[in-house]
Order: sequence, then structure tokens, then C-alpha cells
Amino acid sequence: MIRGISLLFLLVFLSLFVGSFMAADISLGSVLYASKPNQTWSSPSGKFSLHFLQITSTTYSLSITYDSSVAIWSAASADSSTAVADSSATFQLLTNGNAQLLNGSGAVLWQSNTSNLGVSHGSLDESGDFILMNGSISVWSTFDHPINTIVPSQNFTTDKVLTSGLYTFRLSRIGNLTLKWNNSITYWTLGLNSSVNVNLSQPSLGLQTIGILSLYDNRLSSSVIMAYGSDYAESGDILRFLKLDDDGNLRIYSSSRGTDVSTVRWSAVSDQCLVYGYCGNWGICSYNETDPICRCPSENFDPIDPHDSTKGCKRKVELSDCTVNATTLQMDNTRLLTYPPETSNDIFFVGISACRLNCLSGGSCVGSTVLADGSGQCYIKTSNFISGYESAALPSTSFVKVCPPVVPNPPSFSEEAGNGQKLKGWIIAVVVLCTLFVLVLLEGSLWYFLCRKNPKFGGLSAQYMLLEYASGAPVQFSYKELQRSTKGFKEKLGEGGFGAVYRGILANRTVVAVKQLEGIEQGEKQFRMEVATISSTHHLNLVRLIGFCSEGRHRLLVYEFMKNGSLDNFLFSSDEESGKLLNWEQRFNIALGTARGVTYLHEECRDCIVHCDIKPENILLDENYHAKVSDFGLAKLTNPKDHRYQTLTSIRGTRGYLAPEWLANLPITSKSDVYSYGMVLLEIVSGRRNFDVLAETNWKKFSLWAYEEFEKGNVGVIIDKRLAKFEVDMDQVMRVIQVSFWCMQEQPSQRPMMGKVVQMLEGIMEIEKPPAPKAAQEGSVGGTSRKSSNRISSFSTVEISAGAPFSSSSFQTGRGTYSERPSSSLPRDGK
Ligand SMILES: *[C@@H]1O[C@H](CO)[C@@H](O)[C@H](O)[C@H]1NC(C)=O
Ligand SMILES: *[C@@H]1O[C@H](CO)[C@@H](O)[C@H](O)[C@H]1NC(C)=O
Ligand SMILES: *[C@@H]1O[C@H](CO)[C@@H](O)[C@H](O)[C@H]1NC(C)=O
Ligand SMILES: *[C@@H]1O[C@H](CO)[C@@H](O)[C@H](O)[C@H]1NC(C)=O
Ligand SMILES: *[C@@H]1O[C@H](CO)[C@@H](O)[C@H](O)[C@H]1NC(C)=O
Ligand SMILES: *[C@@H]1O[C@H](CO)[C@@H](O)[C@H](O)[C@H]1NC(C)=O
Ligand SMILES: *[C@@H]1O[C@H](CO)[C@@H](O)[C@H](O)[C@H]1NC(C)=O
Ligand SMILES: *[C@@H]1O[C@H](CO)[C@@H](O)[C@H](O)[C@H]1NC(C)=O
Ligand SMILES: *[C@@H]1O[C@H](CO)[C@@H](O)[C@H](O)[C@H]1NC(C)=O
Ligand SMILES: *[C@@H]1O[C@H](CO)[C@@H](O)[C@H](O)[C@H]1NC(C)=O
Ligand SMILES: *[C@@H]1O[C@H](CO)[C@@H](O)[C@H](O)[C@H]1NC(C)=O
Repeated sequence: MIRGISLLFLLVFLSLFVGSFMAADISLGSVLYASKPNQTWSSPSGKFSLHFLQITSTTYSLSITYDSSVAIWSAASADSSTAVADSSATFQLLTNGNAQLLNGSGAVLWQSNTSNLGVSHGSLDESGDFILMNGSISVWSTFDHPINTIVPSQNFTTDKVLTSGLYTFRLSRIGNLTLKWNNSITYWTLGLNSSVNVNLSQPSLGLQTIGILSLYDNRLSSSVIMAYGSDYAESGDILRFLKLDDDGNLRIYSSSRGTDVSTVRWSAVSDQCLVYGYCGNWGICSYNETDPICRCPSENFDPIDPHDSTKGCKRKVELSDCTVNATTLQMDNTRLLTYPPETSNDIFFVGISACRLNCLSGGSCVGSTVLADGSGQCYIKTSNFISGYESAALPSTSFVKVCPPVVPNPPSFSEEAGNGQKLKGWIIAVVVLCTLFVLVLLEGSLWYFLCRKNPKFGGLSAQYMLLEYASGAPVQFSYKELQRSTKGFKEKLGEGGFGAVYRGILANRTVVAVKQLEGIEQGEKQFRMEVATISSTHHLNLVRLIGFCSEGRHRLLVYEFMKNGSLDNFLFSSDEESGKLLNWEQRFNIALGTARGVTYLHEECRDCIVHCDIKPENILLDENYHAKVSDFGLAKLTNPKDHRYQTLTSIRGTRGYLAPEWLANLPITSKSDVYSYGMVLLEIVSGRRNFDVLAETNWKKFSLWAYEEFEKGNVGVIIDKRLAKFEVDMDQVMRVIQVSFWCMQEQPSQRPMMGKVVQMLEGIMEIEKPPAPKAAQEGSVGGTSRKSSNRISSFSTVEISAGAPFSSSSFQTGRGTYSERPSSSLPRDGK
């Protein structure tokens, strides 16, 4: 599919490439002055320019910029950080061929070291490469000396390195991309797909103009895709670039010409807290609602820079200055990050208290982490640099050696509020449970009294079970029971993102679906709490949780059984399998039912739930073809704190339905569900996958093609051809299509809340014409926007424009929400 698209863009690419041969010459003896900010050496079209870029009111950097604002290269001092020049600095291309950046004082801040190499002139070409030439031969170029950014047509080979502070990015001989901290700790690596079985000779990495990061090698039959930005293949005057940011994350950005804004389209480490050292030495990373934040382990530590928490912490009293014996500070749900190389001397297999004592008695130990995931691994930390991660999802406990007394951090405001709510929650739960218990007891004794002598009813216990299933409280099953009821997990119904599902029959003859969860990193207690939340969520359009099992490592969920399976079987079934085709009325009711179910999750139930994985596979149909949403609340089980999957591979799993913010590493809110729902909605109408790229859709993603046809008024071609033999309410079709485009808006704030979606589908609310789903031409598309000024922004200055999760007002806050857009905002995909 991607290859098809890249073919399409070959033309665009070629025309740019041809353009890159033209370049503006800069003759020897030319000088740039920091005091003349408008003076630049530009590429022929003016797209790129070399000039002094103002950092603060008195300091400048010498940079090559795209569109005069986005720096893609800057002269760097010896430690690879940007060289800081003052307002009387100059940049000279000397007559001997050396290029020099001088401070006002005359100090050399940077030089190209090209004197007497026959340099005849310099040039800046259309791809942004500043080259010192001997005639037509390149003697030195900025593309060969990257700092922290690479742009399309720049060749990144194994001898090159991107540097940002202590972080580096390299390409290895075997084709692995790696991110390292202080050249010692590898915290991210991405290798070739294991199906690519060749020994590379001279691998090189390149970013295609359309936003795909590819690996090239002459032993490979074609280039291999390593990563892509979420807006890949979208057209427009956009520069994509790969940058190692100073927060240690590697990102693909897009910047539209004339906007000054760069938008994150992909990030290597999706969980920022997993970047080693992001919070500095002894800094503990965690998330508030939206952002990663840094804290010290306890009040036994002081922040190094009170204004920048990512700088880390230092002990108030060094261990060596301690007058009494050291003690340990216990930190629950916290991991002192462990990445190779960890010597085997530092890993033990012991229990929690032994892990603590091992550290306390070890002279060089400063802290230890024990994994409470059943492996019993205990890591002893002797290094003088410690990076920590705290999250309710982490099954680890850490101990930090401190000089007594231990002074814990004061609870943060949000924690206090959380505790208050928890307490309230507990009181409600206890009251409800007591009431239920009394009711069940009453009902039970009534049944017992009435049916005792009735042979139709089996043993007493079976009746109790029946009551229990009906009462709504989740039933706890033993693993043996479930094994028996599924006949040893024989009849597999399907394989979801969280594990396989089997058909089972309970003792009372109820048919159920039993889901065997995999990859649950949580302890017993949290699991039960999540189960309680899920099972307290009752709605006609949500699959009901009957019970659960939590025994040792086994975590299973028991759901009511849905006779007709999942929606995808009906939508995408090949050819007219009899009875496997839904008519329009059924489809519309499924769309509406799903919307109601999700609305309930988002807006109406007590503990609001973001589903995170809405797709046809998770919409089940009962015997009357009523939609019931399944798998809600599970994303929270695997990673409750940030609602995010850990690895990119699992994101790719259901890529077709993921909102752009997933790939851009932005907060996931209920609006992300709205996006996925919009994708499903279009598929309900069209009966095919939105991400299919076919000849009949001009080799475009179906959803993009559909919008173009909608724009032209050709709604008929979007509708599933198999619906021709049924009656179709065109009014409803129109509403569904328009709602789906509203839901697919790239900007989360532009998407309607789920409750509004229901009203629009029902026809209660007027629907205005939706703008193009991807507003590629608009200024600040996407969420995270960095004003790409000269400021070298750190992660903590990122502005998140997406609304707070579950904010009911964000529907109205978007720019021009629900207003008519000029048709020029069409996605110009392709040509
Ligand atoms: C630089 O350009 C801006 C706008 O393009 C203009 O307002 C300003 O006067 C110019 N400054 C100098 C020193 O030429
Ligand atoms: C160059 O000037 C800037 C601004 O005055 C100053 O911060 C920097 O230290 C100077 N560098 C050298 C090498 O003198
Ligand atoms: C030029 O040489 C100096 C001293 O050897 C070195 O520090 C600097 O990095 C070199 N500059 C470039 C662009 O390689
Ligand atoms: C510059 O190029 C010319 C011809 O292309 C070559 O003869 C000469 O040796 C080069 N100069 C240096 C210093 O490499
Ligand atoms: C990139 O560099 C490698 C090694 O220097 C070279 O073999 C390859 O041809 C270059 N690729 C491009 C597109 O310039
Ligand atoms: C980085 O590594 C060097 C040795 O390779 C070490 O001296 C230095 O202390 C390390 N930096 C930090 C911040 O730990
Ligand atoms: C290369 O990357 C893969 C992950 O994609 C990893 O499993 C492997 O260990 C890496 N190899 C090296 C030498 O780092
Ligand atoms: C590896 O490539 C094959 C074929 O291109 C693909 O089917 C498979 O999903 C890829 N595996 C991974 C882990 O990306
Ligand atoms: C790669 O090299 C290794 C060792 O040199 C060799 O054993 C292996 O067969 C090679 N693989 C391929 C696909 O050529
Ligand atoms: C989370 O932290 C960031 C950065 O410190 C802050 O801007 C943001 O307002 C915080 N969000 C919440 C919900 O507290
Ligand atoms: C401190 O540690 C030493 C040796 O580990 C031990 O002999 C001594 O009793 C300890 N002192 C206190 C007050 O615990």
C-alpha cells in the first residue's frame, strides 16, 4: 500500500530533486552580520536560508532554516550544543576557503576547517544543504555534518550521529536505530523486521519527502520502512524532518510553509518517562493528567534547578556525610530504570525485603528496584546516575538509600483530591454492596422458600449462582470452573488485542464468552478494582461483564455471549455469504447503538472510560442485531496511567482506527474514541476498510477519496454496492457520512462529543457541512505545536492544545467548529 503511494509521489519527489541541482553561489570573502538580521544567504527559491537566528534579545545562532524559522542545522560548539554568538558576531567565508563564526570579541566559535582545500565558493541548495565547493566538487557540507536534525535527501550513514545534550542517535552496521544516553545506556532500539534476512553492506537512513523513514542498502531489493509520520503521503508544501530533541526523544515533524509551526507526527519513545535520564539524576518521572512531570524521590533531596525540574535532584545530606547508619526510602509503583548494560552482578532473584536489605548492607548500593511481576528480579543500583519512573501501572517497588530521617514528599494536590474521591467511592461501594447483599439474601430466602420442593430446580447452589449472575455484581470464578465450562478452552471465538476469547457454558446453562487476558501487568488489587469499574458499567449497548477470575497468573473475564459475533464479519465478508449481509436499517441502528454505548462510557457512567480501541471487531451483535460494544476498560488494565500502549507494534495493530494523537504522542482523550468511531461509521456505510487503497479510489485511502466524492456531491459511490437490493434511507446515509467526517477531524477539539454524535445521527441536531478530515492547509494542524522560533525548546515547554480529558466544553472551543469551510481545504492527495 505504502509502495503504491510512494510511486504516486515519485513525480513530486523527482521535481523537487531536479530543483535541488540549482543553488545560489556565495563567493569567497562574503560576510554575514548578526547585527543585520535581515541579511541571509538563501537557496534559489528562498525556501532555505543561512542566517543569524535570534535566540534571546542579545544572543544568536548561525542556522540554516526552512521558511526563515525552522532551524534544520546550527553551528555547534565542541560539545555539540548550539554555539551562542553575540550581537556583533560575524560569519565569514574567508578567501582561503575556511568558513568561520566569530564572536564580537573575535573568538572563533565554530569553523569548517576547510582552508587550503581549494574551496572556490559556497552554495545553499534547494534541499537545505550548505556546501563548500571546489568547482563542482563538494569539499564540506552541512548534510555530512548533521547536528540534531536530518531532512529529506540527507543521507544518514553509520559514521554519523545526531546529538542533543547527553543523548545520541545512531544507525548501526546491522541496520538498528538506537537512542543512547551518555553513550552508555541504550533506551530505545528499532531493528529491521526479522523477515528481512540479509547482512547489510553499507546501510543508510533517509527520510522521504512524504514522511517515511526508510533504510537503504544495496543488498536490499528495496528500501525498508522503519517508521512513518502520521501525515505521511499528505501533500502540500510541507517539510518533514527527523529531530533528536533535547528531551531525548526522536521525532518526525511536519512543518507547512508559511506557518512557523512544527507538528509532531511520530516519536520513537511513545512513553516519555522511559527516556533514560529525562528527569535528570535522581529525578522521578510520572504523568499528571497530560504531561510527563519530574519530581525528587523525597524531601531528602533538593531540585538542582528550582525552575527546571528536568535538571534532576541532589541529596540534602550525602551518604558519606551521614552521622548515623543509612536507612531506605520505599517508593511504591516506582522503577529505577534498568536498561542494559546491567551486569549480572547487579541482578538478584530475591523477595522484596531481601532486595531492600541487600542494598542497605551493600556499601556501594544507592538504590534498588524489585519487580513484583512474579519474576522476583531485584536490581541493585551502584551507578552515580539514577533515573526513575513512577506509575500506578508499574509492578515494582524501589528503595533509595538515604540519611535518616526519611522525609516523604508532601502529597500533591491532585493526589489529595484523588484520595478524597476514592474515599467517597468506597463509601458508595460499601452502601451499594450492603444493600445488594440484603436484597440477594431476601430474594434468595424467598426462592428457597418457594422452590424448595420443586424438583425443576437443581441444587440450592445453582439457584444462588443464577441470582448472582442476575444481580449485576461480578461473580468470581475459579480457574478450574472456567476450564470446565469452556471444556478446556476448546472452542475459540476469536483473538482480540488483549487475548483469546472462548465459548463456555456455566453451571446454570448460561452461554458465555471467556476472555483470557494476556500481558496484564497489574497486581490482584488493581485488577479487582478495574473489574469492579467495568462491571458497574451497564448499558443496553455495552457487553455485560458477568464475572472474572484472578488466580495466580491467570486473569480471565467472563462476558455475556453475543450470538452474531462481531461487526467486521458482516461488513467485510467476501461476497454474498447468505445471511451475512446487513440491510441499511440494521446498519443505521448499529451505528446509533454503538454511539449510545460509547456516549455512556464517556459521559454518563460514574468512572468515565476512554475505550481506546473502537473498531468493527469490538462491536458485537446480539441475536436481534443490536450493537454492543466490547473490550471497554481493558486499555486501562494494561496501562492505566496514560491510556497508551507501550509499543508501536501494538499501535500498528489497529492503525486504521487510531486517532492522529496516538502516533504523535499526544494525550489520549475521549475525542480519540470519537475519531475511531468516525472511521467505523464510514465503514458501516461503505462496507470496506477505510485504509484500503484500490484502483477504483484513484489509489487513495478510501476515507480521503470518500471525502472528495462527498465534496463533489457523489454520495452514491460511497455506499456499499451490496446495499443496492435494499431500501436505503438517503437522509440517514447523508447524516451518517457527514457525522463520520466530523468525527475524523484531525484536531481533537474539532470533533464532536459522543453525545452530540447521537443527536446528529438521530436528526435532533442540525449538521453543518464538515470540513476536510485532514486540514493539511490550515496553520496549526495537529496538537503539539512548537512555535519554531529560535528558542531551543525543552519538552516541558510544549503546549498541548487538546482539551483536558472528558472536558464537556471542548466541543465548542475549536476554531470555527461546525462552520462551513471553503472547499479549498480538501486534501489534495496525490497530484
Ligand atoms: C527586516 O525586515 C522586516 C520585515 O521584513 C522589516 O520590518 C525591518 O525593517 C527589516 N530590518 C532591517 C534592519 O532591514
Ligand atoms: C560569545 O558571546 C556570547 C554573548 O555575549 C557569550 O555568551 C559567549 O560566551 C561568547 N563566546 C565566546 C567563546 O566568547
Ligand atoms: C574544526 O577543528 C576543530 C579543532 O580540531 C574542531 O574542534 C571542530 O569540531 C572542527 N570543525 C568541524 C566543523 O569539523
Ligand atoms: C580542486 O579541484 C581541481 C579540479 O577539479 C583539482 O585539480 C584540485 O586539486 C582541487 N583542489 C584541491 C585543493 O583539492
Ligand atoms: C549514502 O551514503 C552511502 C555511504 O556513503 C552511499 O553508499 C550511498 O550511495 C549514499 N546514498 C545517497 C542517496 O546519496
Ligand atoms: C557520562 O559518562 C562518562 C564516562 O563515559 C562519565 O564520566 C560521566 O560522569 C557520565 N555522565 C553522567 C551525567 O553520568
Ligand atoms: C536491534 O534491534 C532489535 C529490536 O528491534 C533488538 O532486539 C536487537 O537486540 C538489536 N540489536 C542490537 C545489536 O542492538
Ligand atoms: C515483517 O514484514 C512482513 C512482510 O512485510 C509483515 O507481514 C510483518 O508483519 C512484519 N513484522 C513486523 C514485526 O513488523
Ligand atoms: C550473514 O553473515 C553471517 C556471518 O558472517 C552468516 O552466517 C549468515 O549466513 C549471513 N546471512 C546471510 C543472509 O547472508
Ligand atoms: C501537567 O503538567 C504540565 C507541565 O508541568 C502543566 O502545564 C499542565 O497544566 C499539567 N496538567 C494538569 C492537568 O495538571
Ligand atoms: C550501624 O551499622 C553497623 C555496622 O553495619 C552496626 O554495627 C551498628 O550497630 C549500626 N548502628 C545502629 C545505630 O544501628
